[in-house]
Amino acid sequence: MHNVKKLTKDLYWVGANDRRIALFEGVYSVPSGVSYNSYLLMDDKTVLLDTVDKAVNHQFFENIAHVLGNRNLDYLIINHMEPDHCAEIGSLVAKYPDIKIVCNAKIQQMIGQYFELNIPENQWQIVKEGDTLETGSHKLTFVMAPMVHWPEVMVTYDSTDKLLFSADAFGSFGAIDGNIFADEVDFDHRYMDEARRYYTNIVGKYGPQVQMLLKKAAGLDIQMICPLHGYVWRKDLGIFIDKYQKWSTYEPEIKSVLIPYASVYGNTQNAAEILAGKLAQLGVKDIKMYDTSVIHPSYIVADAFKYSHIVFASTTYNMGIFVSMETLLHDLTAHNIQNRKIAVIENGSWAPASGNLMTEIISKWKNTEIIGNRITLKSSLKQNQEEELEVLAKEIAATI
Ligand code: FEO
Repeated sequence: MHNVKKLTKDLYWVGANDRRIALFEGVYSVPSGVSYNSYLLMDDKTVLLDTVDKAVNHQFFENIAHVLGNRNLDYLIINHMEPDHCAEIGSLVAKYPDIKIVCNAKIQQMIGQYFELNIPENQWQIVKEGDTLETGSHKLTFVMAPMVHWPEVMVTYDSTDKLLFSADAFGSFGAIDGNIFADEVDFDHRYMDEARRYYTNIVGKYGPQVQMLLKKAAGLDIQMICPLHGYVWRKDLGIFIDKYQKWSTYEPEIKSVLIPYASVYGNTQNAAEILAGKLAQLGVKDIKMYDTSVIHPSYIVADAFKYSHIVFASTTYNMGIFVSMETLLHDLTAHNIQNRKIAVIENGSWAPASGNLMTEIISKWKNTEIIGNRITLKSSLKQNQEEELEVLAKEIAATI
């Protein structure tokens, strides 16, 4: 049975949800599932924008068949060639053999890498920046968006209805729960954290490229954003665009302290907890702590983009950084984290080494300053070290 959602007089969401996926991209848990969005424009010509992941292909083809009725599918626009969106190109071509594929040259090359389709030359329409496709009453313009999130990515702008088909940009983890528009749900409370986790982990590394897309988008009159994951935006677009502005320039959203800690027997945790309490006494609000052995790095990466200050507290392990903290630090490096104020707490029962090793990694982050004196625990925090924590808390609070 179809599950189609009508977005405008002639545009339909024909995507589907996967609520049983264990790990998105094999890495990220998505406890609320994920949606794969595909859009079908029913103009004089019928135009499908992107396909879906193979996990939801049955629903997808039911949706398309329902909207098309007895019409044929004329065009497939491919904005992004990652398999969570392109998996059904082969099946689509098999089902609608006359379909014309609209994409850029890099996408065409990637189609050849993923599939062996033998699509005749006259069924390709290869586009570049600013090229257009007129489908009847709609005029679609193609805007290149390399590295948001792969090199071939483009977005499609419908200047008739002022719609932006934004590919991965402005997407979110989380399945679509009945409603389709972001303004129909309590997005800020239910989805913004997952939108941040999605952005920072999937696209966070590519801030400058996202900035290029935002600058191009600023020149367009956009009334609706149709991303490839999550809800469609038609109201208060500025709220989400402002988040993207901050995330892509690595500007913290709040002035407060994130404290990820790695603790084997609870002593490093104890120091982190006491520091957090002292920060609270100094008036710092919304402090957040994570045990790196319990929480997947993707959640901590997301908050690292949100918070202005981060205190990393880790025990020494095999003469290195404790494994879960080391993974987190490398993940943050990979996602290009920068522009933060950092403090470090280390622990070690015979040769504390994690402080130097953490500092070595952190010192490579752009515009990042290490503040306060490093605190070194020898197995556990001693009474006479409380003063050290007090001083560190004051130094951190003074910069907030
Ligand atoms: Fe949702 Fe980059 O794919």
